[in-house]
Amino acid sequence: MNQDELKQAVAQAALDYIAPKLKSDSIIGVGTGSTANFFIDLLADRRTDFEGAVASSDATAERLKGHGIPVYELNSASEIEFYVDGADETNARLELIKGGGAALTREKIVAAVAETFICIADESKMVDVLGRFPLPLEVIPMARSYVGREIVKLGGDPVYREGVTTDNGNIIIDVHNMDLSRPILVEEKINQIVGVVTNGLFARRPADVLLLGTDKGVDTIHRAGI
Ligand code: A5P
Repeated sequence: MNQDELKQAVAQAALDYIAPKLKSDSIIGVGTGSTANFFIDLLADRRTDFEGAVASSDATAERLKGHGIPVYELNSASEIEFYVDGADETNARLELIKGGGAALTREKIVAAVAETFICIADESKMVDVLGRFPLPLEVIPMARSYVGREIVKLGGDPVYREGVTTDNGNIIIDVHNMDLSRPILVEEKINQIVGVVTNGLFARRPADVLLLGTDKGVDTIHRAGI
């Protein structure tokens, strides 16, 4: 199977996972990226089975609306049972790197609210140790140089992502060559840098379920303790 077929397979697996639990008043959290897009397109066929969605980006909101799926503000959703999203990397503990599509802040907020975070990814995203994919940071524009210097002190190589403005009006710095062998610790350290809005480590709030697309089929991996 090629990568798109694997993405399609995990998107279908996510729909199969949530479909029996959907209620007419369910609001689904929907992520951003090419894998999430496959999920959105499948969700369209079930749009009468749930109330609507909360989107993690403007692009996702547009795609959902294009399929006639109502999109709600997070503040008006009392509960989100499921959040379905892709990732740039995952480890076996379902700790993730996200933000390749610059949507990390809203993704992290929706993931925080959701009862169950289902990550959908093809097997190329599975790594032993996070960090092959550069770690995205959403940063307030005026803090760009300061944050860069602080990241160098932590051992990373910051690279400004040229020409990208996030949905929140901020910039992205991608951090290369950082030791992410203790992701929770690094996530907390970077959170302390003034001017960083969000970092793309999803370790304090990892995924609960990983649907991993492989050539042999989709593996369902539950976070330990779930
Ligand atoms: C968006 O900011 C990211 O967190 C995406 O979820 C991530 O980049 C995965 O995207 P793909 O499904 O396109 O690989």
